[in-house]
Amino acid sequence: AADMGKDLEKVLISEDELQAKIKELAAQIDADYSGKDLLLVGVLKGAVMVVADLARSLHLPVQTDWMAVSSYGAGTKSSGVVRILKDLDTDITNRHVLIVEDIIDSGLTLSWLLDNLKSRNPASLEICTALRKPDAIKVPISVKYVGFDIPNEFVIGYGLDYAERYRNLPFIGTLAPHVYSG
Ligand code: PRP
Ligand code: MN
Ligand code: MG
Repeated sequence: AADMGKDLEKVLISEDELQAKIKELAAQIDADYSGKDLLLVGVLKGAVMVVADLARSLHLPVQTDWMAVSSYGAGTKSSGVVRILKDLDTDITNRHVLIVEDIIDSGLTLSWLLDNLKSRNPASLEICTALRKPDAIKVPISVKYVGFDIPNEFVIGYGLDYAERYRNLPFIGTLAPHVYSG
């Protein structure tokens, strides 16, 4: 694992807990999409680890595709301004689509993405997220698969960054305040 030095405040969700939860979600998804042709849509960059682990835990044959959107830039607060940096390569018309995210914070990114993908007329559209912050939500979103509900703290690791760092931590941790308060 990466050396966190003094930047890590505490481990919120361990690697073992994360991996066990991903396997649980995969079992549900296997059951729910049995006999269907599923497309996983990972939201870059944060969802890379979740997609990689989830896809390998599924027994269903799935396709994967990626969208890159960004609403945070280098800060710690969601701006609500969503930009498409990379669109899907796949035509999702009549496809069963499962959006995979690392975290739902304000919900602004996903609410925008849901509208965008819905307009392309998929056969079905659901969401799987590793983490959700119930106290930070600004737009209600119905999410079918949730790993963990977590407190409203700035979290890093397992794909989640602070200013593009810490994504490669295999666990979810909180950042020591000195890192972002200067
Ligand atoms: C983060 C995270 C989610 C989104 C959640 O992505 O990965 O995609 O913010 O925030 P919201 O619910 O408040 O919209 P970010 O925009 O930081 O891009 P990244 O995945 O490349 O880090
Ligand atoms: Mn993201
Ligand atoms: Mg980010």
